[in-house]
Amino acid sequence: MKFLKFNNSHLASEFVKEQIIKQIKTKPESILGLATGSTPIISYNLLVQDFQKNKTNWSKVKTFNLDEYIGLPTNHIQSYRYFMNDNLFNHINIDINNTYFPNSKNDYDKLIEKEGGIDLQILGIGTNGHIGFNEPGSKLTSLTRAVDLVEQTIKINADKFFNGNISLVPNKAFSMGLASILAAKKIILIALGNSKKETMQKLFKTKEFNSNFPASALIKHKDVIIVCDKECAPDGL
Ligand code: PGA
Repeated sequence: MKFLKFNNSHLASEFVKEQIIKQIKTKPESILGLATGSTPIISYNLLVQDFQKNKTNWSKVKTFNLDEYIGLPTNHIQSYRYFMNDNLFNHINIDINNTYFPNSKNDYDKLIEKEGGIDLQILGIGTNGHIGFNEPGSKLTSLTRAVDLVEQTIKINADKFFNGNISLVPNKAFSMGLASILAAKKIILIALGNSKKETMQKLFKTKEFNSNFPASALIKHKDVIIVCDKECAPDGL
């Protein structure tokens, strides 16, 4: 795992945007793994700005999102499909039929494999170390499946996206597993802000996989970049 520290969230997000554009330019038919949440929003905004200015060609790109709530219709404003359409897909020239989310009908890992595998996987991280919705206890061998969200995740998402109303947050989701994530050729995890500092400290110290801290699975992959802003960068970096 290679850790990079940037002076602010904008510069960290610029770096992520540049890596995504580089990937698409090198391989126009790239398969991208994408994340939702508050963290990647700046990167997606920058990608939209890049498209408006430089017309980076997304027409052959395919995307696989990490997770999706169970129980929200896809047109619900808090569904991850809605989030991605609204923050990125509606503003670039991607073919919407080439943008995938896990659901009860698809065999997601097979689908990803059939497309040739993920070239670049973008990840966020929860304060409890979850990546995707792989909550503590997730197995290294886990594939895409229905998962239960832990109370802490529901509370955080309620505060961030559901006006603090826990009862509105689904308690289940489909999520790519840790093995699904580790199958990507390259991985970039982005963390921003002081609330992720302790989590980054823990990740920085990781020497082996510990299922109580799912992001520790990344130690098993040979091409992982962890992008932090100054506020969450681990001491000693
Ligand atoms: P956040 O979520 O980007 O909103 O902090 C990240 C996550 O829970 O994976």
